Amino acid sequence: MSPVGVFDSGVGGLSVLAALRAELPHERFVYFADTAYAPYGERGDAYVIERSRNVAEQLIAEHGIKALVVACNTATTAAIHLLRAEHPALPIVGLEPALKPAVATSRTGHISVMATRGTLASAKYAALRESFAGSATVRAVPCDGLVKAIEGLETEAIAALCERYMTEAGPFGHASGEVDTVVLGCTHYPLVKSELQRHAPPALRFIDTGAPVAQQTRRVLASLGRLADGGDGGLVLQGSGDLAVLEAAAAHWLQKPRQQSAAVPAVSAV
Ligand code: DGL
Repeated sequence: MSPVGVFDSGVGGLSVLAALRAELPHERFVYFADTAYAPYGERGDAYVIERSRNVAEQLIAEHGIKALVVACNTATTAAIHLLRAEHPALPIVGLEPALKPAVATSRTGHISVMATRGTLASAKYAALRESFAGSATVRAVPCDGLVKAIEGLETEAIAALCERYMTEAGPFGHASGEVDTVVLGCTHYPLVKSELQRHAPPALRFIDTGAPVAQQTRRVLASLGRLADGGDGGLVLQGSGDLAVLEAAAAHWLQKPRQQSAAVPAVSAV
C-alpha cells in the first residue's frame, strides 16, 4: 500500500501527524518538513504556492503517495486549490482555522484567532469569517516570529512571544466582552500550547484542527477504498533541511504529551 504524504513548512504539521497516526494506525506516512524554506507565513502567496507545488511533486514522484494532507494553514490557504487542479486524481486534505466550531461553542461570543500573517490576510480567511463569524467578535492575532522560534527550539523566544500574543488575544474570561475561546490557526501552535496556557485562565478553550483533519482523511481514504487494512503503519521523515535536526525535532515534539484538544467537528478540514 502506498503511503499518505503529509507536509508543512517545518515541524508544525507534526501536531497533525500525531492525530493522523492515532486515527489511522495501519497507514504508512511520509512527513515532509520544508524547513530550508520555512517559515511560510510572512512571505506571500507566490512563495508558498511555489514551495507547495515542489513538495507535492516530490512526494508524488518519490513515494507514489495515495493521498496528501496539507498540514499547514498557510499552504492550504494559498495553494490547495492549485494543487487539487494540478493533481485531480490525488485526494488532498487541507485545514483552516476552526472558526465555525469556535463560534458555535463560545459563550461570550468573543473569540481570538492566532495564526500566521499570511493566513489572516488571505481571501480564504476573509470568506471563512464572513460565513461563520455571525454576531461574534473575532479578533485576529498574527503571531509573527513564533513559527521561526518553534523551528529553532528557541525556548526564551517562544516564552516571550507566547506571552506577548496571549496578551493581545485577551482579556480572557467568561464575563461579557471577555474572550473564552482561542483558535490555534497554525499547526505549529499546538506544539507550544502548554506555554500559551501559562498566560490564560484554566477554563480558556483552545481549538485546533488535528483530530478533525485525521477524521476527514479517514473518510476520504475509505470512500476511495484506499484505507490500509492491516499492518503496523510506519513513518518516513523527509525534508529540505537537515534530516538529523528534523529527526531530533520530531522526537522532541511527538513524544511530548499533548493535552487533549477540545473535540471539534470535521468542518475545519477542507
Ligand atoms: N504550520 C504552518 C501553518 O499552519 C506555519 C506556516 C509558516 O511557516 O509560517 O500555517
